[in-house]
Amino acid sequence: MSDEAPLEQLLYISTVSPSQSVNLSHILAAARRNNQANDITGMLLFNGKRFLQVLEGPADAVAATYNRISQDPRHRGQVVLSRKSVSQREFGEWSMAYRDGHTAPGDALYETICAKVAEAHPNLRVEVLAFARNI
Ligand SMILES: Cc1cc2nc3c(=O)[nH]c(=O)nc-3n(C[C@H](O)[C@H](O)[C@H](O)COP(=O)(O)O)c2cc1C
Repeated sequence: MSDEAPLEQLLYISTVSPSQSVNLSHILAAARRNNQANDITGMLLFNGKRFLQVLEGPADAVAATYNRISQDPRHRGQVVLSRKSVSQREFGEWSMAYRDGHTAPGDALYETICAKVAEAHPNLRVEVLAFARNI
């Protein structure tokens, strides 16, 4: 993986489309295949209702990937919670790590995400807290 291009990290939240039956293994298979080809790494959480995803990689690849994902009819209501340049990857070993999204305060990953959101957009922390409570 190239560490020379400027890296961008994007964090968004979305809601599963009610009309769609979501097959997570299909989403993850496409994500891992494409992300590996596009030098994207990251993480996906799903709690049965909402997705929270981190994408990181070269800025143009992150933009193209997010653009494709945001048009996917399997989810809707995407809100970008944080988008920033980073000096190194946080999920460098994962083309797309997956975690069941039933996180809670005290959970290390949940706390990491809260901290990330608090830094960038304090007003949007409520979105992440709602996610954790499965609202
Ligand atoms: C919640 C969610 C997360 C996704 N994450 C990724 C991803 O990280 N990378 C990716 O290429 N596609 C991702 N997808 C799938 C894309 O929307 C799209 O279906 C796929 O990139 C098309 O690839 P294909 O033409 O190779 O089938 C995601 C879809 C959803 C609903």
